[in-house]
Order: sequence, then structure tokens, then C-alpha cells
Amino acid sequence: MTDLASAPVAGPALAGWAQATGTSALQTMLSVGTRPGTISFALGLPAPELFPAAEYGRAAAAVLEEDPRALQYSPPSAALQAHVAALMAQRGVVVAPEEVFLTAGAQQGISLLARLLLEPGGDVLTETLCYTGFQQAVEPFTPHFITVPTDGESGIDVDAVEAVLAGGARPAFIYTVPDGNNPLALSMPTEKRLRLVEIARRYGVPIVEDDPYGFLAYDGPPAQPLRALDRDWVFYVGSFSKVLAPALRLGWIIVPRELVPLLAIAKEASDINTATLSQRAAARYMDGGHLPAHLTAVRDEYRLRRDTMLAALEKHFPTGARWKKPAAGVFIWVELPEGTDASEVLRVAIEQEGVVFVPGNAFAADGSSTASNCMRLNFSHSTPDVIEEGIARLGRTLKAVGV
Ligand SMILES: Cc1ncc(COP(=O)(O)O)c(C=O)c1O
Repeated sequence: MTDLASAPVAGPALAGWAQATGTSALQTMLSVGTRPGTISFALGLPAPELFPAAEYGRAAAAVLEEDPRALQYSPPSAALQAHVAALMAQRGVVVAPEEVFLTAGAQQGISLLARLLLEPGGDVLTETLCYTGFQQAVEPFTPHFITVPTDGESGIDVDAVEAVLAGGARPAFIYTVPDGNNPLALSMPTEKRLRLVEIARRYGVPIVEDDPYGFLAYDGPPAQPLRALDRDWVFYVGSFSKVLAPALRLGWIIVPRELVPLLAIAKEASDINTATLSQRAAARYMDGGHLPAHLTAVRDEYRLRRDTMLAALEKHFPTGARWKKPAAGVFIWVELPEGTDASEVLRVAIEQEGVVFVPGNAFAADGSSTASNCMRLNFSHSTPDVIEEGIARLGRTLKAVGV
């Protein structure tokens, strides 16, 4: 008879995805990046000094004073839905407030859409290099990633998308970030948007348009979102994280109206409802008319930081390194000469110079070593002085490793 008390304790049997998953680059970078003296270009963090803490604080206090039910479970805030509808109208997307489905950030938006559209083991179509949070959101479904290349100027290769679909594949959805793409920092031109939407419609495959950066365009207004071009096949995901603050955990989804009840069920299973206080305080902040001036200030500062980083790259990086000026978003994508191992550069940069960034291959949805000579650099979080210093340190690191 087995003596259960003395039998070695086996760990709990984990689900397949949990056994298969690796470490989270984001969690690692969050802890490494906060070591004293370290300069972090790793994560897409907003500038904390720009957070509208005082105005938001006043808005939250007023909401609490007026109605203690701001701390209760609640249905979506109609006032916030109306503000989001007005924001979307500025981008050419006309929706009724009740079509705005509020979420706890874009990340939850992606997760809920995956839950709505993706069968376990199903296909998803994305670029070879894509946002790691997307990969994590779909991971529990153990999907098969159909990957297409990215054109270095204009984003997702739509010819490749068409070829995949013409070949018979019917992924649950196409995932794309059309403005200030993470990680590649590209924005799609209008002709490409029109073609992608037309292909999605023709083959009956929805697009999940992840757009946390569309409100952060620096050189004039961005092209209209894909959702402005098609209301049936484009499921739009928006976020207040980069325009107000990530800790509010507020985002939204725009989907065809009849899908809202299903999303509401998925949301209930996930976190019941988006934090009531957060919704109401954000709505009150916007009632006060503060958002437009705040957005202008954020864009102005990030434009300056982007341009500071571009100038510092010119000054400190070797001639074989290449990058483009991003029109939107919070990243610059740098290609080091072919054969350079960016992970090794990162190791030396952490050890000798106290700088972190994310090596390109961390974004490869197919787990390949694609872009292992590339680095994603964030410019929104550090002040211009720190950007100059950090890029100088990275320049020294590149010299030290012989690039
Ligand atoms: C492309 C992309 N999608 C989604 C998110 C998550 O945003 P949120 O804070 O709204 O959940 C991020 C965050 O950096 C992102 O870069």
C-alpha cells in the first residue's frame, strides 16, 4: 500500500499552455528597468511627469463625494462611452455610445476578442514580429500562428495576407497595429488600409485592430483607423493607457452591435466589470474639457523625445545601424548590422552601462530568431537628458562588443 503521507509531492498538473510558456520579457524588464541608475528603453511606459494627477485627483474626489456608488459594481459608464464615441468621431469612426464596449485596457480588449473569436487550437494571422502581449492573450487557446512578413516602410505585407487566404486558410482573425506599430514603429498608409480591409471582407475574416497609439501621431493627423473603413469586419481596440495613464486600466472595443452581449458575458467571467471609480473619474475629467490640451502637451513632449533619440542615434550609433523616424507611437526600431546578436548587446549593456531595451527576436510570433540583430527602443518614458545619456551608453556598448 502506498504511504501517501510520505510519497513525494508532485506539483499540480498545469494546463498545457502554462507548461509550454516561457518567461515574460515584460515582467523581467519591469524589474531590471527599475534598478537604481538603470536607464530603461525597454517598455512602452508613458512619461509619469505628464500624468494629469492633479486634475484626475480632483475629478475622482468629486465623483466620490457625490455618490458612494462610485465604489460599487456597476454597468458601463454612459458618460465615458459618450466621451469615447466623441474621440472616435475625431478619427472618422462614427459610433453610438452604446456601441462602445468599455474594458480594463486594450490588453483585456484583445483577450476578450480572442475569447469571442478563437477556438482552442485555431489559427490566428499576424505579422512575424508582433506585440508580445497579443501572443500572451491568445496563448491559453494554444493557437497556430500564421505569420506574414512586414514591409519595412508600410507595415503588414498585404500581398502575403491575400496569398494566405487565397490558399484556403481561414484564421479566426487578423491581428494588426496600424499606427505606431509595436514593435516596428511603422504606420500603414491609407491605400494599404483600404486593401487590407477589402481582403478581410472578401474572405470573411475579421481584423482585430489594436490601436493604443493612434492618438499619438506627431507629424500631422494619422490616417483613419481601419474601423473607419469597415464597420462589420474590423473590431477596434482602443486604450486610455497612453493618452491618460495606464493605471486607470481603461480601454474600449468597438464591434458590431449584436456581439456586445457576448462580450459582456466574457467580460463578466474575466473581471465582472471595469472599475467603476476609474470609469467615472475619467468621464468627469473629460467633462471638464481637459483632454484636448493634455493630448497636445503629450504629443509635443513625445515629439521632442522622439527627435532627441533620433539625433542621439545619429551621433552615437555606428554607421551600419539603421532606423526610421516613427510617425506615431512610442518606439524606434533599430536594425544593427546583420549577424549582430542584440541579446548579447543587451547583456553587456545591462552589466557595463545599466541600460535596457528589448531585443527584436523577443517579438517573433513563430519563436524564430528573426530580428535577433534588432532592438526596440522606447522614447516616451525618459526625459530628453536621459535619452541622450542612455543612447550614448548604448553607443559605447556597441563599440565594446565590436559592432
Ligand atoms: C500594441 C499594444 N496593445 C495593447 C497594449 C496594452 O495596453 P493597455 O494598457 O491599454 O492594456 C499595449 C501596451 O503597451 C500595446 O503596445
